[in-house]
Amino acid sequence: MNTIGNLILRALLLFLPAMVANASPVLIVGKIVKNGHPIDLGYILKDGRRLFGEGKTWEGLISGIITSSLVGLSYAKYTTNNYWIMYGIVVGLGALLGDLLNSFVKRRLGKGRGDPFPPFDQITFIIGAFIMIKVSGIEALTGIYLNSTDLLIGVAIAGILHPVSNYIAYKLGLKSVPW
Ligand code: CTP
Ligand code: MG
Repeated sequence: MNTIGNLILRALLLFLPAMVANASPVLIVGKIVKNGHPIDLGYILKDGRRLFGEGKTWEGLISGIITSSLVGLSYAKYTTNNYWIMYGIVVGLGALLGDLLNSFVKRRLGKGRGDPFPPFDQITFIIGAFIMIKVSGIEALTGIYLNSTDLLIGVAIAGILHPVSNYIAYKLGLKSVPW
């Protein structure tokens, strides 16, 4: 039966690799690596602003994909389907690319690293994950097809969890700003 609780749990599980991919760079680059290497290699566009900025690093990208693949690995343990690790990687990559696009747009709008850009800071990674799930063909392998309700609930969950987790990260000293 499709109770609301079931729908929320389904979206949560399907987007969990995206949420983990989005959150782990803050932890890993914030606490362990400290000075990551920027993905844009410092490249400045004609508008005088960075391509992505100092907050998007290779270390963050790689750690996000590793942790999202681990979420997929944990799903694979509970199913007979071998494709969940690949699902974790696809979803993590989509989330991180969505987040990169968000930073690209922020830089073009003249926003500095870490400047708030609601609601896009909170949801572009979910949309990126959703698009990647659709275009990669992974649904045919896992046998689970995402629909617009999944996307809506995923966006709502991220919209609520993102500010809460950012505030916790700020309080733990992982982030310099509470957003
Ligand atoms: N981070 C990273 N690499 C990524 C994503 C995030 O190293 N691909 C780390 C950075 O230390 C970043 C922190 O996680 O500062 C928080 O991520 P996020 O809020 O997405 O970046 P911002 O610092 O807000 O940068 P931007 O303004 O470009 O969104
Ligand atoms: Mg931010």
